Formats: sequence, structure tokens, C-alpha cells
Amino acid sequence: MPQKLIIDTDPGVDDMVAILAALRAEDIDLIALTTVGGNVGIETTTANALRILARGGSPELPVHPGLAGAHTAAHVHGDDGLSGCPWPPSNHPAQPEHAVDYLARTLPNTDITLACLGPLTNIAAVLEIHPNLTNNLVLMGGGFGSYRFQAQNGIIESTGNVTPEAEFNIYSDIPAAQAVFASKLNITVIPLDISQRTLLTPQRLQQMPIDIAPILDRYTGFSRQKWGHHSGPLHDPNVIARIAEPDLYNGLRGTVTVTESGQTQLAPDPNGPHHVMLQVDAGGYLDWVTEQLQPLAGTATPTP
Ligand code: BDR
Ligand code: CA
Repeated sequence: MPQKLIIDTDPGVDDMVAILAALRAEDIDLIALTTVGGNVGIETTTANALRILARGGSPELPVHPGLAGAHTAAHVHGDDGLSGCPWPPSNHPAQPEHAVDYLARTLPNTDITLACLGPLTNIAAVLEIHPNLTNNLVLMGGGFGSYRFQAQNGIIESTGNVTPEAEFNIYSDIPAAQAVFASKLNITVIPLDISQRTLLTPQRLQQMPIDIAPILDRYTGFSRQKWGHHSGPLHDPNVIARIAEPDLYNGLRGTVTVTESGQTQLAPDPNGPHHVMLQVDAGGYLDWVTEQLQPLAGTATPTP
């Protein structure tokens, strides 16, 4: 039985790849998207979610607009959030029901999994209504310092990418992240330790659909410029790959806490409530992503 999935997202170039992969993944039944302000403002993340679904051939999948964010990352994802993506606006409107109301109505007493690809603002608001939710939640966020590597311009660390300690999704709403990790949700974490190992090389870009490759090229250009490195991390699709292909990942159980400055810390404990991924078969992951996007290659809309 495919897993029923709702993606909470702030598209976002890597969010876009994650959504397109989820639409194709055999073992996933994507039932809705909820949007959150993050990489860009909430109006733009919502419009992007709709046009990504249209590009993926599922324009009617419901999109529920959620809460606005405090920070943006337009310098990474472009002012449009999708690095100058040429796809037109969708003909389908967003749902009138707010993301928080939708999630609060839909999640309780179900086995629906939540994939969180942005700041945890919506989820913390849902927990205020239903503090005892126990759904599975897989999130991209945080960093635990298990991985560092030398790029041309410096050392890339796996603790933070906004500040030396804090990762963007956690930093963007620290109180929300604290509330989510303190909850009863069954949480799996994809931190920077994983996503900074999954680099989109120029060779990998060549295998992407013809309209998506230039978007990813501009997006990874940020990392190339910042670090003088040959490629950039493809963060969010790891969340979907962990759900569809769990054997690609390995991690440690424990308790995650979030400091006031947005640093995530793990107290290892085999019986702990959180499962933090710390190892990935990066080649297997990138093969999986490429395979999910392959059917889109023949349907590319020409760029103007
Ligand atoms: C996270 O921040 C966003 O810019 C990406 O979409 C990803 O979710 C990586 O730190
Ligand atoms: Ca994201």
C-alpha cells in the first residue's frame, strides 16, 4: 500500500525537485501540498507549488496556503523562488482552506505521513490545536557536525548554512522547531550532514529534463560562487527518498533539541524519540531522483 503523504513546503528549487519526485514515486500517494513562507514569501511559494504541480502533470492536486515566514533565501533561489523558472502560472487556484486548518482537520487518527521541506511554522500551529499528534514526520532541517569538507574557498560544515550553527529551515522559525521536536510526532530528520553529501554535479545536471537542468544550474551556481566548488547540495528530495527508499539512509536514534540560536543538538539514545539520518548512499539517491524525473523529459515546455 503506498504511503499517504502531505508535503509542507516553501518552493524553493530543491523543494520543486522533491515535489516532482513525490508525484512519480511508486510507493507514495501524494494527497496535498501545504505551503509556508520560507525561501520566498507565502504568495510566491503558493504560486510556485501550483505551477510545479502543473509541470508534474497533477494540476488539480490541492494546495493549501499556510503561514508567512520571517526570513527568505531569495539570494539562493532567486526572487521568484525558482531561479528564473519559465513555467507559467497554473490555471488552478489554491484551496480556500488555510493549511493549518486543513492539517488540523486531516491528520488526527490517520497514518498520513508529513514531509516538511521548509520552516516548521505551520506544524507548530497545528500542534497548538492537537498537541498529541503522533503521525510520522520526515523533515529537512538542522545539522549535527558529523560531516565537513574542504571546498576551494573554505570548509563546508554540516552544522549551519545560515549562521555557523544554524540551518535555514530551523533558523527561520526557532520556536516552531523547538515545539515540533518537543511533540509526540514520530520524527525522522534529514540534516545538512546528509544533504551536503548529495551534490548535484554538472554530469548529474545533464541527465535532468531540459527545462529543469538550467534552473538547477542557476541554483547550484550559488554554492559554486560561495565555495568555489564544482557542485551544490540537493537538500529536500532526500526527505522523499528517505520515505520511498529508506535503505539509502542510516542514522542514530536519540533526542534532538534546538538551542535559542537555532542549533540542533542530538543526545544519542537507542530508545530516543527522534531518528537522525547521518549517512547516505549519495550515488543511489541521485540515481533515484534522476529516475523519478525521467518521465518529465519528454514533456518539457520550451523556454521562452
Ligand atoms: C533548506 O533551506 C532551503 O533554502 C532549502 O529549500 C532547504 O529546505 C536547506 O537548508
Ligand atoms: Ca525547502
